[in-house]
Amino acid sequence: SVPVRAASASGSPSATVAQSPELKIKIVPTQPIEGQKTGTSGLRKKVKVFMQDNYLANWIQALFDSLPPEDYKGGVLVLGGDGRYFNKEAAQIIIKIAAGNGVGKILVGKDGIMSTPAVSAVIRKRKANGGFVMSASHNPGGPDYDWGIKFNYSSGQPAPESITDKIYGNTLSISEIKMVDFPDVDLSLLGLIDYGNFSVEVVDPVADYLELMENVFDFSLIKSLLSRPDFRFVFDAMHAVTGAYAKPIFVDKLGASPDSILNGVPLEDFGHGHPDPNLTYAEDLVKIMYGDNGPAFGAASDGDGDRNMVLGKGFFVTPSDSVAIIAANAEEAIPYFKSGPKGLARSMPTSGALDRVAKKLNLPFFEVPTGWKFFGNLMDAGNLSICGEESFGTGSDHIREKDGIWAVLAWMSIIAFRNKDKKAGEKLVSVADVVTEHWATYGRNFFSRYDYEESLECESEGANKMVEHLRDIISKSKEGDVYGNYTLQFADDFNYTDPVDGSVVSKQGIRFVFTDGSRIIFRLSGTGSAGATVRIYIEQFEPEASKHDVDAQIALKPLIDLALSTSKLKEFTGREKPTVIT
Ligand code: G6P
Ligand code: ZN
Repeated sequence: SVPVRAASASGSPSATVAQSPELKIKIVPTQPIEGQKTGTSGLRKKVKVFMQDNYLANWIQALFDSLPPEDYKGGVLVLGGDGRYFNKEAAQIIIKIAAGNGVGKILVGKDGIMSTPAVSAVIRKRKANGGFVMSASHNPGGPDYDWGIKFNYSSGQPAPESITDKIYGNTLSISEIKMVDFPDVDLSLLGLIDYGNFSVEVVDPVADYLELMENVFDFSLIKSLLSRPDFRFVFDAMHAVTGAYAKPIFVDKLGASPDSILNGVPLEDFGHGHPDPNLTYAEDLVKIMYGDNGPAFGAASDGDGDRNMVLGKGFFVTPSDSVAIIAANAEEAIPYFKSGPKGLARSMPTSGALDRVAKKLNLPFFEVPTGWKFFGNLMDAGNLSICGEESFGTGSDHIREKDGIWAVLAWMSIIAFRNKDKKAGEKLVSVADVVTEHWATYGRNFFSRYDYEESLECESEGANKMVEHLRDIISKSKEGDVYGNYTLQFADDFNYTDPVDGSVVSKQGIRFVFTDGSRIIFRLSGTGSAGATVRIYIEQFEPEASKHDVDAQIALKPLIDLALSTSKLKEFTGREKPTVIT
């Protein structure tokens, strides 16, 4: 059947001029494929794995088989992606299976592009039943690297474990895929393509998201900051999805100079980069910010646009501090929070800086496991406004995902607000000034994370053994045990009971909490595509302002040594050094 496309000159769809006959559903026989279990954030594997016959199709069909029919039959689903290799083919597969399962309409970003936060925003704004994000987030892309798929629910949040467990169960028994066999949809043109009982609308991936940002922030305040000659700004899109957002938002709307955007064109292999905004991988940005005459403000975002890193001139803001500082300043600097945040939350390994802000502002506070999905229920229940994770995720209840560009706009709002009454020529209140003032008020939570990233499959064995060893230690530990200069308050494997729906998750990370509030935490990453990545999180609180100006690695050295000796990491994994330190 020949679809009919209708698009107005403005790019928004006009009424459809004709309809094609009913689509015919084709049943494709298939067999279960092992290993399709969803991790911290969707299903992630090497591209080559996803390119096997029916690999993606099986998972998508298993997903529809897991949802109650009223959640998708005749409904609307959003489809976006970070522009990585294999997204174009994957989009066609997803669209055809959605049609085969009776979905009414797919809203897809032009060229299959739409950031994770924008997908969440579009689901909410268009009252869609849910949406897909084709991304392996911060993992590298290209034929030899990673691909991934996530499913978000009707309020825009990542699917809960009850759904992802069901999907996995269904991948083990799947026998047929329902799809419609029409020619590939042209995703390069905006507009509505109507197949009769199914349609595809190709939308501008930026428009709805930008409108939301304009409602959350005071754009004229940010504009005034960007117009100051002493405020130079750089944003590194890392050749990933925020490349599509940076120019329309920072340059066209807010007046940043066009050359303030680095690596602003999304590429299928992210320009051979590792699109993870941290001090190791965002090296172009780091070089500029730490170089001579560096700009006042620098930021980067990851593959799918939900992570962020914020830097001042020669100054790194840890994600744990970042969320605390945004929370402390939100009410005065960001119109969306003008009545004050409703509550604050962080993931368990994230430092306790936010806890101190919650206490001072007398706000409800929550500690959840690693994974953004755990914040959604608290937001839906109206108990949570601002939250963050040490893993470069910061966000709020404006959507149900973390949001890289939101975090950058939040920081610019804070800096703009602090400089609002300053005349030209007066010294700019800098990112470093805001952070050090915050420490002086609340104390500093020194924090660092050591990552021993996956390389070979066989390394999982050593990592798992190390975790067993740690579990053995905590089972025998008791309050008052002495670890070097530290006295144990408790050691456990973190469990979480969702206060809204009562669901329980266990084994979310091994923690050693000492009587002075210091913590050592061990976790295995849930976002890899092969092998195991060990993460060690170290934290120590320092109330004394005179001791704040110390490098975190130096301040934390005794705890880091303690973490390595207690875990016997080197013995179990053979690893001498971490791959990434943040
Ligand atoms: C993703 C998730 C985050 C999580 C991060 C690290 O970005 O959305 O919630 O903190 O990955 O997860 P991992 O399991 O690799 O430590
Ligand atoms: Zn991401």
